[in-house]
Amino acid sequence: MPIDRRHFLKSSLAAGLTLGFPGIVGAQKDKTYRVALIGCGWWGTNILREAVASGRCKPVALVDVDRRQLNTCAGETAKWTSEVPKHYEDYREMLAAQKPDIAIVATPDHWHALPTIAAVQAGAHVYVEKPISHTIMEGRAMVSAARAADRVVQVGTHRRVSPHNVSGRQFLREGRAGKIGMIKCFVLYGGGAEQPRRNIEPPKELNWDLWCGPAPLRPFNGDPNNPWAGGIHPRGFRSYLDYANGTLGDWGVHWLDQVLWIMEEKWPRTVHSTGGRPIKGAPILTAEHQTTDAPDHQVATYQFDDFTLTWEHRQFAGNPTDKTESVGCYFYGTKGTFHMGWQRGWTFYPSSRGESEIHEEPKLNQPDAQNIKELWADFLHAIETGRRPVCDVEAIHHSTNLSLLGMLSYKLGRSVVWDGEKELCVGDPDAGKLLRREYRGPWIYPQA
Ligand SMILES: NC(=O)c1ccc[n+]([C@@H]2O[C@H](COP(=O)([O-])OP(=O)(O)OC[C@H]3O[C@@H](n4cnc5c(N)ncnc54)[C@H](O)[C@@H]3O)[C@@H](O)[C@H]2O)c1
Repeated sequence: MPIDRRHFLKSSLAAGLTLGFPGIVGAQKDKTYRVALIGCGWWGTNILREAVASGRCKPVALVDVDRRQLNTCAGETAKWTSEVPKHYEDYREMLAAQKPDIAIVATPDHWHALPTIAAVQAGAHVYVEKPISHTIMEGRAMVSAARAADRVVQVGTHRRVSPHNVSGRQFLREGRAGKIGMIKCFVLYGGGAEQPRRNIEPPKELNWDLWCGPAPLRPFNGDPNNPWAGGIHPRGFRSYLDYANGTLGDWGVHWLDQVLWIMEEKWPRTVHSTGGRPIKGAPILTAEHQTTDAPDHQVATYQFDDFTLTWEHRQFAGNPTDKTESVGCYFYGTKGTFHMGWQRGWTFYPSSRGESEIHEEPKLNQPDAQNIKELWADFLHAIETGRRPVCDVEAIHHSTNLSLLGMLSYKLGRSVVWDGEKELCVGDPDAGKLLRREYRGPWIYPQA
């Protein structure tokens, strides 16, 4: 990575803006934003908490297709504010009735595109969760809709404002790890075999047809008291490819985004991915039972002009031989190896024997060790100044594409050549078909 000092100063200034809580300019500084939350589960509740804590936002609507989730979120909201938001099952009804200034979209991944597009078209600025879309052309349509409506769309990749990620980026961009030739992103957790779970009737509080929405209608399974036990809802959708894109789509986008942000790149030239389910076993889907169907391990290789990027995840074995965390990215440079991590901050391991390691601790907010507060401040500042937010929808569309192209190659079983400018797989109509998918009616796939 050649270091252009002027370029570096410009970009680190942009990154640093978000940490300094810049003064709010213009007539909007006293405005209180009317905020609606679409998707009142785990992460949506975390975002709404920070929105209220900013002192600039009042919740006017909570939307969820599961009344149990909505009621739990409403109970939490009552601990932070005396405002009593209205309850809705259908985001379209809420947008028409409430016309919120801001919509938070924290639904499962297959439900990010349509509510985001509807919200910007209804005049709202949007904070949408990562990955921005389930297929690549949905993401392109989201970018087009945001630009056409002239609304700010911030994506929840909060690592772009985490203090240790910002300082680590500066360290790397100053060339202190030397020229970077290779990067490895990884998430290596433990786990084991998977037993099929029995399908059950959806609970009466859940509109399962609306939960599935534009995606295929699978039989229901899930347990709100045990959200990580492997059922689809709540939270488990991550490992069902009808609704998400496995670990590469879930965790992967955070780390792949770090690479694009730090290296100031937009897309690779080629992508190849392989993996499978040797530990979890072949996916099962019958009228009686089902398992997840995402790969239990996966490797992806992305070729950029100046470096090679690899992704690796496992849901077995963990990472017992490595002295860093089980998640993060290694940047391999001519002066050493830099680990960008999460709860253990970052560490630089110099190649020269005589030099000492350099380490920085993280500054994360609780619960769940995140930096939503800083990202929310950046969002409001972008709304009030008209600048692009630090996790602008177009930038995170490119990051999401890395995850989605990895999954596309995994499904095809071969490499793809990516024209990032035109957003197509070069000379490969079969790959091109996977850039979008058929929606289940009456939902219509969004057009860019
Ligand atoms: N940025 C981060 O660090 C981070 C962390 C966790 C989750 N996330 C993202 O947040 C999103 C939600 O994840 P979660 O773990 O909170 O899941 P969750 O299952 O706890 O919550 C999702 C909620 O959306 C609801 N929902 C589904 N369809 C809906 C619709 N059409 N309208 C309204 N509500 C609907 C579900 O009923 C559920 O309550 C995902 O995209 C995930 O990737 C991001």
